[in-house]
Amino acid sequence: MIRVALPGDHAAIDAIVRAAFGRADEAVLVDRLRVDEDVIFELVAVEDGEVVGHVLYSRLRVDLYDLYASLGPLAVDPAHQRRGMGSALVRASLEIAREFGCHGVLLLGAPAYYGRFGFSSSATAQVKGRFSGRSAFQALALEDDAFASPMTVAYPDAFASAPSEPRRGNS
Ligand SMILES: CC(C)(COP(=O)(O)OP(=O)(O)OC[C@H]1O[C@@H](n2cnc3c(N)ncnc32)[C@H](O)[C@@H]1OP(=O)(O)O)[C@@H](O)C(=O)NCCC(=O)NCCS
Repeated sequence: MIRVALPGDHAAIDAIVRAAFGRADEAVLVDRLRVDEDVIFELVAVEDGEVVGHVLYSRLRVDLYDLYASLGPLAVDPAHQRRGMGSALVRASLEIAREFGCHGVLLLGAPAYYGRFGFSSSATAQVKGRFSGRSAFQALALEDDAFASPMTVAYPDAFASAPSEPRRGNS
């Protein structure tokens, strides 16, 4: 089951994010995004009443007043990986982002993983921002032409101190 994350889930989310990435950085990023009120929404995957996966969307500042989002971190408890939880979280979250009126989504991650959801590095060709030019920097337009014109994106402050490289190659 995928549902919106509640404050009571925060401790479980913290444990999953730390376990999935094998370090604290991404869990610290999640906390900081919440404190700074830069979160658009968070979803959790629940199995047998236990939170086993999590995804967070945060608000990007663009030169227009349109809503664009950053997807991540995305984490699934290592004991529950490779069973479709990550994909379910991405697909459900993209639907919700669409309902929020989000024009497009950006992320830093493995193209081999995110390509299956329609993300591509080529879609970021006109996007200027702290991750521009990296092959891991990918975008998905939720509305036609969302990335068709040059644009500059500013990430939430929490990303300034966050690692931009994954430890395990997944990001
Ligand atoms: C990436 C992650 C969320 C995927 O969760 P999951 O529930 O295992 O994902 P799914 O079951 O939907 O998909 C698993 C498939 O994705 C593949 N996959 C996972 N990470 C991948 C990567 N970096 N590159 C390519 N493929 C990858 C798996 O090999 C598997 O392929 P298969 O179906 O052919 O066996 C999970 O591995 C994770 O938490 N990783 C550590 C944290 C992380 O890197 N987060 C990502 C972005 S911020």
